[in-house]
Amino acid sequence: MLSQCPSSVRIVEVGPRDGLQNEAMAIPVDVKVALIEGLAEAGLSTIEAGSFVNPQWVPQMAGSDEVFHALSRREGVRYTALTPNLMGLERAIDCGVDEVAIFGAASEAFSQKNINCSIAESLQRFEKVMLRAEQAGVRVRGYISCVLGCPYEGDIAPRVVAEVAAELQAMGCYEVSLGDTVGVGSPQSVNAVLDAVLARVNKDFVAVHFHDTYGQALVNIYAALQRGIAVVDSSVSGLGGCPYAKGAAGNVATEDVVYLLNGLGIQHGVDMQALLSAGAMINQYLGRESVSKVARALTRPNN
Ligand code: HMG
Ligand code: MG
Repeated sequence: MLSQCPSSVRIVEVGPRDGLQNEAMAIPVDVKVALIEGLAEAGLSTIEAGSFVNPQWVPQMAGSDEVFHALSRREGVRYTALTPNLMGLERAIDCGVDEVAIFGAASEAFSQKNINCSIAESLQRFEKVMLRAEQAGVRVRGYISCVLGCPYEGDIAPRVVAEVAAELQAMGCYEVSLGDTVGVGSPQSVNAVLDAVLARVNKDFVAVHFHDTYGQALVNIYAALQRGIAVVDSSVSGLGGCPYAKGAAGNVATEDVVYLLNGLGIQHGVDMQALLSAGAMINQYLGRESVSKVARALTRPNN
């Protein structure tokens, strides 16, 4: 293993949320629950299981309350959800979520399209969510979208990403996940954004969340690992996309991340076979093949 890489990585599985939020077909609660339980069985210790947003904005996440109520929770697993505002947080608290995430952006245009307010307004809104979450004893993660480029604005200045990351830390988030929402980054742009962000916050505060539109997610994760980043978001079978970033592919596939980490000798706690089973279940339901190259290779007949 390269010395600058961490010895272990926590994978944040976002498939049930980031993956399924973008599906055209309605997915029943019991299928979502089976997927989440399968992922927990595979050893994933943090699972983003839903999203308490306005159901008119993202209809696929409308059943998140029912999903949380129906889940059999496994000890040691954190079941998390997105909460854009106080109403979302109250819904999440009623469902007994372990942790929530607020989500902002480094692009003004994306912020408007995604959460209907400016970056500054979103930060004010998040302050209220943080206060209530603290009262309720719920940990809060922060996301920043469009850190390596925006579908509406193009290039994004790393300094803006660093500024938002510092604000999220100051208001009490325990971690910030840097989102390449459109998947346009390269190791060079990852390093440029990490130069700016790590000048403001510690590497232990930072996670990476890369969509794989241009097939660069794994190499970008490798660049981040080499900077000491030890939390990586991914989605089983590479499910997903963002309804407000048209054309963006899903997150990097969890199977591909696990394979990369295995190759680097980095601990992660995920059982590949059980992960493949969870992926096979949801792909069968959706009637498609996995987009994970690793899953395809490992499940080829006569393998
Ligand atoms: P708004 O329209 O400005 O909200 O939307 P509002 O406060 O004016 O309320 C309007 C209506 O929405 C009201 O209902 C509220 O009750 C309702 P009405 O009176 O008209 O009947 N409402 C809600 N209902 C249920 N749950 C709530 C809620 N809040 C308001 N929480 C809002 C603002 C933020 C709510 C909206 O823009 C929204 O829901 N946006 C979510 C968009 C989204 O989920 N995008 C995908 C997730 S982000 C992502 O994928 C990126 C990420 O993966 C990282 C990366 O890849 O970069 C995280
Ligand atoms: Mg995403």
